Amino acid sequence: MIARYLALCLALLGSLTPHAACAFEFCVSTAAHQIEGQNQNSDWWNWERIPGKIKNGHTSTFATRSFEFMDVDVQNLKSLGVSVYRFSIEWAKVEPLPGQWNLDVLKQYETLIQKLKLAGIEPMVTLYHFTLPQWVAAQGGWDWPELPTAIERYTQKVAHFFSKSHRAKIKLWNTINEPITLIAAGYLSDVFPPGKKDLKSFARPMLHLVQAHAKMYRALHAQFPTLGIQVGIAHHLRVFDPKRKWHPLDWIFAHKFEEIANWAIPRAIATGKFEVNLPGLVSLSADVPEALNTQDFVGINYYSRDLISVHPFSAEPLKRSVPEGAPLTDLGWEIYPKGLVEVVSKTVKLHPGLPVWITEIGIADRLDQNRIPFLRAHLEELLQHRNWPIRGLCHWTLNDNFEWAEGYTAQFGLFATDLTTGKRTPKPSAKEFPKLIQWFKENRGSAQ
Ligand code: GCO
Repeated sequence: MIARYLALCLALLGSLTPHAACAFEFCVSTAAHQIEGQNQNSDWWNWERIPGKIKNGHTSTFATRSFEFMDVDVQNLKSLGVSVYRFSIEWAKVEPLPGQWNLDVLKQYETLIQKLKLAGIEPMVTLYHFTLPQWVAAQGGWDWPELPTAIERYTQKVAHFFSKSHRAKIKLWNTINEPITLIAAGYLSDVFPPGKKDLKSFARPMLHLVQAHAKMYRALHAQFPTLGIQVGIAHHLRVFDPKRKWHPLDWIFAHKFEEIANWAIPRAIATGKFEVNLPGLVSLSADVPEALNTQDFVGINYYSRDLISVHPFSAEPLKRSVPEGAPLTDLGWEIYPKGLVEVVSKTVKLHPGLPVWITEIGIADRLDQNRIPFLRAHLEELLQHRNWPIRGLCHWTLNDNFEWAEGYTAQFGLFATDLTTGKRTPKPSAKEFPKLIQWFKENRGSAQ
């Protein structure tokens, strides 16, 4: 496998300037809806206005005003010492009505990319990060069988626009961010739109996500046959362990959770067969040969672990919890660095030879006391596995931003955002971040 990876590195050399193909890149990750503001034509705009959906009644109306603060943010990225910036393009802004394209919005992203390039930072673009245009949501959102075709058209439009742009070439792409989070939060629960909260509702939209990814991947490659682009999908991967090691039901359900939440979609891409099966509730299997070979790298967003326990006669028969006494983030998520090793090692087994990007990792930490130790602990785990083909790691996130149902209460940023003026203030960890990169690169040594 390592030989295959080295061969791939050699093949990529030259196509990926200015960075050497197999260096380890540090990156910062964001998402359009969480930072831009004014996303009036998105399903989230309506969702946020339903009382009770977002903590403290917060909305993304202005978010962090990222377009207005573009120069500052690019300078701040530069000060962190990162070489890649992952951000998303907002479908609801680019295509506010079916077939009506807003090229001015694409030009704003183009300006951002030019500024990034001038600062020596490569863009990694995500085409879909949780938000749908309202007109797509009105057709049924991810339930709509035509969604994969609609998102393919949007992908073609964006790709066509950037293929004509000489100063804003994009080599790194993510099709979809965290398909399973969208399913868990929007279909199994009512934390995201459409808020179905129905155990039977999730399989069909999940299949559509796989089909959409495949079409997007192919649309991008068709538009950039010679640029040497790399296209991946960013999965949310968690660790699921049984809470009671002696309890067979806890084992069975922890395994089931892991199979469906972590692996159903990656496996569909690896094997061309989509399958989810929850006996008595949902069973869907479909051939998706078009999804085969639709990843040039695998993206992993890693945050935490869940303990699963089963209590058949209680009000909450299936419980997710954290180990007693475990270190927690402000959101109550367990800090579990070993889990990163577990999810990467399983990913590498499922997709032998494919490069991996940690497309997100970060911590809700209002006091900014645990952020650097958190990152360092996870990086230390990676140092134990230098043979893994990990291309880079993106910190979630740059500025404190609109954290979906949590509003602005969960603070993942390296910079604090004044929500009235938009002013960014570096937290102590923003100052530590370049040293962390340095430390990691020195310790990674010759494996780079
Ligand atoms: C996700 C998204 C981000 C979140 C981040 C922190 O993983 O849900 O990519 O939009 O803000 O993960 O929860």
